[in-house]
Amino acid sequence: MSDTRPILFFDSGVGGLSVVAPTRALLPHAPIVYAADSAGFPYGTRSESEIAARVPALLGRLVERYRPRLAVIACNTASTIALPAVRAALDVPVVGTVPAIKPAAEMSATRVIGVLGTEATVRQPYVDDLAARFAGDCVVLRHGSAALVELAEAKLAGEAVGPAAVAGALAGLLEQPGGERIDVVVNACTHFPLLADELAAAAPSGVRFVDGGPGIARRIVSLSAGQDWAAGPDVLVFTRFGEHERRVAAGLAFARVEAL
Ligand code: DGL
Repeated sequence: MSDTRPILFFDSGVGGLSVVAPTRALLPHAPIVYAADSAGFPYGTRSESEIAARVPALLGRLVERYRPRLAVIACNTASTIALPAVRAALDVPVVGTVPAIKPAAEMSATRVIGVLGTEATVRQPYVDDLAARFAGDCVVLRHGSAALVELAEAKLAGEAVGPAAVAGALAGLLEQPGGERIDVVVNACTHFPLLADELAAAAPSGVRFVDGGPGIARRIVSLSAGQDWAAGPDVLVFTRFGEHERRVAAGLAFARVEAL
């Protein structure tokens, strides 16, 4: 019998779509449920205790409703704060998103890398740990930008994104002491690869960007090896449905749009 269970992707907003895209490229027939916690958005300016209280409970409700074969926390902020608690609360495999510091260190020639995430992500001890383990011989500069998160949401809602706003957010990283030597920037927020063209245009030539999406897609393939995929309607679910969500949904090809 074919397996109709979907893959559940979870983020505060549209950011996790940057993880869905490389997953779809590898698993074109996988049914997808994409959940955006629009009622809790943005996560990056929230406290650790707010995220830790909110995310496991919400994922529990989503898993109960959609019965996925695996759940993907397609959000660096939620993963770096709440991944162990989510794993403990759910009875399905959970894939998290962590800042791609390891591949960035492997790519860097200057040994100066930038980590661009949310304010909450860049202050996590988890990031200190990744930097110490995988980029011990690099200078790792960090910047948290709530503005880029908002710009990615605006872009997916069909609004024009001005180059000056993106350049301004990137300057918070590149204009730190030593920032002119950065040759690799980690997009440590899943919203940011959605602005890949704008970020590339705003960055000096020679600066490359890396994110965790392709690695997560490979991990999903490996966790679902041997399983079959029965086509099902892809579902987009929001925890709050307002005008912004209506515009975002209109620009995406999900068969069903629901509210939790
Ligand atoms: N997309 C999320 C991340 O990867 C968080 C964005 C936000 O809600 O601030 O961190």
